[in-house]
Amino acid sequence: MIFGRIKSLDAILATAEKKSLTRSLGAFQLTMLGIGAVIGTGIFVLTAEAAQKAGPGMMLSFVIAGFVCAVAALCYAEMAAMVPVSGSAYTYSYAVMGELIAWMVGWALILEYAVAAGAVSVGWSGYVVGLLENALGIDIPDLLVRGPYDGGLVNLPAMGIAGLVTWLLVIGTKESAAVNAVLVAIKVTALTLFVVLAVPVINMENFTPFSPLGFAGVSAAAASIFFAYVGFDAVSTAAEETKNPQRNMPIGLIGSLGICTIFYILVAAGVIGSVGAQPVAGPEGQILAPGSIELSQQCAALASAGKEAVVCSKEALAWTLREIGWPQIGNLIGLAAGLALPSVILMMMFGQTRIFFVMSRDGLLPAVFSKVHPRFHTPHVITILTGIFVALFAAFFPVGKLADISNSGTLFAFAAVSIAVLMLRRTDPSRKRPFRTPAIMITAPIAVAGCLYLFWSLGVETKLMFVGWAVIGLIVYFAYSYKRSHVGRGLNEVHETDADIPPQPVPPIT
Ligand code: ALA
Repeated sequence: MIFGRIKSLDAILATAEKKSLTRSLGAFQLTMLGIGAVIGTGIFVLTAEAAQKAGPGMMLSFVIAGFVCAVAALCYAEMAAMVPVSGSAYTYSYAVMGELIAWMVGWALILEYAVAAGAVSVGWSGYVVGLLENALGIDIPDLLVRGPYDGGLVNLPAMGIAGLVTWLLVIGTKESAAVNAVLVAIKVTALTLFVVLAVPVINMENFTPFSPLGFAGVSAAAASIFFAYVGFDAVSTAAEETKNPQRNMPIGLIGSLGICTIFYILVAAGVIGSVGAQPVAGPEGQILAPGSIELSQQCAALASAGKEAVVCSKEALAWTLREIGWPQIGNLIGLAAGLALPSVILMMMFGQTRIFFVMSRDGLLPAVFSKVHPRFHTPHVITILTGIFVALFAAFFPVGKLADISNSGTLFAFAAVSIAVLMLRRTDPSRKRPFRTPAIMITAPIAVAGCLYLFWSLGVETKLMFVGWAVIGLIVYFAYSYKRSHVGRGLNEVHETDADIPPQPVPPIT
């Protein structure tokens, strides 16, 4: 009975204690970690995509996506504080809803992390190429810096940064708290500078029509812009290294999310009000889809007529500042994005390798995935494999498409965690809950409904891709993982520190 294959929470927690990582992170560091993982391509690049979908109504989209994230974060926080172990949504689901659901969540997390790393790589490329062109006057042919959907052939800089981050991870680079703090400072300064320069020149007329494509457009933009909030769950994976996780974890999660939301709304208002953010229409007046060949052709036509629009920009914030008379500061924003975005890629890819690692340790993926490099002590095999896929996504797909696909996986995982929290309140009411989701009977259902609503608002292509991915996942599970699962075989978990030791039999969990 696959639904009966549940990993006991006590066994999971015992593993966490055995590993005894140093508990060194406090609420402030966690909040920094969250901001470090969250602020990235979403606000720096996808603002243009959101404008194409919703026009000025994207401000509402930021609020909606932020709200869904906040309620999901409240549920996440209860789990993260109660089960402070690696593997986040995958591990929580294993403990509450059983192996099959956990597998599907882990499978969806591949979309969240690996595809997101590809999206951020493309975003990074847009800013760095813009910086080279504007600050140094180096003109690089579009063919080599854009994917085939974007009027190019291959995005070489995006591939390059994915390769570089893979190498850093293989040799064991972990972003230190100090480096993260510097990068957070750079991102926050860049966004603050943007707000300070753009908000004072807001022209209220730019806000009308507010939602040229109606509420459907606002919802579609919210589903895409959700990407800007992804990453706060990286905080939960640091639970094992957190001092007093009971108190600090929820502060870290909600604090980072709150700070990012305020920034996003101010930045969106700055873009809309200063340069206008109405969608670009095709020759027959039809609104064009972001990331489509038609939109890139129309943008090229506008550019040659000297009528560029923010929705066409690959570096929306830098472009806006150049438009309003701050070209040097625009270049600085490009530099900030160029310096800071690789750390988001690093975190995403690190998260991905951790999930693969834990799934392999559980027997659901081949043992070679958790093979550790003798010198670097990193899971090099899975890191390199992940890197190859991230580089390929980054080379050939537009940022918005990758972000949407990533969102589909994330929304699934968030919904699963919200359901798990609610179920656990019923099935295990007496377990110590250091943080209790407020009004869980309302909050968790709203989180699930919010995730479903955003998922539904994604494009048809994205939803079909998600379903296809899920079907492949089920096939892999039943063809491979089901028979090899350690829980299914009644075997003990293999720990990261003793990955070479064969698993020991334990009495079956009743
Ligand atoms: N939230 C992260 C970003 O926007 C993934 O880049």
